[in-house]
Amino acid sequence: MPTKDSFRAASQKQEPEPSSVTKLSNMKIKVQTKSGEFSFECEEGENLLYAGLRHGVALPYECATGTCGTCRARVMDGDAKLDWAEAPGLSYVKQEKNEVLMCRATPLGDCTLRVPAKIEKTDAVMAPVYSDGIVRNIRKLTHDVISFDVSISNPMTFDAGQFVVLETDGVVGGRAYSMVNFEPATESLSFVVKRKPEGKFSDWLFDNDVDGKKLRVYGPLGRATFRPEDAKNILCIAGGSGIAGMMAIVAHGCRDSYFTDHKGHVFFGVRTAADMFFVDELAAYVEQFPENLEVTVALSDEKISDELRARYPRIGFGHGLVHTLTSEKMAGRYDDIVAFVAGPPPMVDGALRMLVLEARLPGTDIRYDKFS
Ligand code: FES
Repeated sequence: MPTKDSFRAASQKQEPEPSSVTKLSNMKIKVQTKSGEFSFECEEGENLLYAGLRHGVALPYECATGTCGTCRARVMDGDAKLDWAEAPGLSYVKQEKNEVLMCRATPLGDCTLRVPAKIEKTDAVMAPVYSDGIVRNIRKLTHDVISFDVSISNPMTFDAGQFVVLETDGVVGGRAYSMVNFEPATESLSFVVKRKPEGKFSDWLFDNDVDGKKLRVYGPLGRATFRPEDAKNILCIAGGSGIAGMMAIVAHGCRDSYFTDHKGHVFFGVRTAADMFFVDELAAYVEQFPENLEVTVALSDEKISDELRARYPRIGFGHGLVHTLTSEKMAGRYDDIVAFVAGPPPMVDGALRMLVLEARLPGTDIRYDKFS
């Protein structure tokens, strides 16, 4: 299993350390949970969450980067250091009671944690790992959206809808991005990133010639995934770069001819026609399954032109917010549906409210990851 140390040695080309030194630096972590006690080793500089997941201990998490607060734990014995004092997720923890965010805390020695959740041991084959990554094939899709590939040192198998955390020297902390592509045991991951105001990672991507630059990749992560065995119709609601994971879901569905027997409804919201991307790719997917797969693009700030409709005859268009348009178009069509939601927080909130109050979907059939 690739480890943080093997990754670090490979990426920074440091002098190899004697293996006995590496072993001495490992810390023993015990986790008390509502479903019993688990233990795993954590390497020096590694955070508690990544170490646990890497060893197949299914610790609770959502964003894996310090924003959501889901990975809250109390340090009962030992000490752990937080590496991001301003992490938004810290608003959910009581630091005066020794609580930490496991995704932002590195142990300073052996530790015992208490995690207020039921957890289990998972299949280590599906556990996330560290990889070296190299940025390739940067493409500017709109004035503030780019896509790029990352070739990785360890082939990765992941579920459509999952994400990885990317880290690079010079930008503090990791950023979570969903994969756009879907192929088993792939050596290349594809991403799409929208530039954010004061977004350090997106500034790094947009303002530098990053082709060929090294990244650290940790994953796959995330449970908001497409599971064909559910055998349900699919509803995807995405805003902006939130379309990334939906592209992987549609790619998986098309690859397995899932849309021969199941409906797929994709709603993609952007501001104007100039902000659209991946529409050609979506139109090509629709062409494969025109009976059952439908894609609707919502433009929130612009009326739909005849020219746009003529350019994309297989794509539906509508004016308005994406979750409002979804509500209009999907009324009465929620039978046997599992819904996926991704995008900016206000859009996600609006879509979730609509899916609960109007569509009356149970929580198990609404899947989303909290990145923001
Ligand atoms: Fe750690 Fe979100 S704050 S998983």
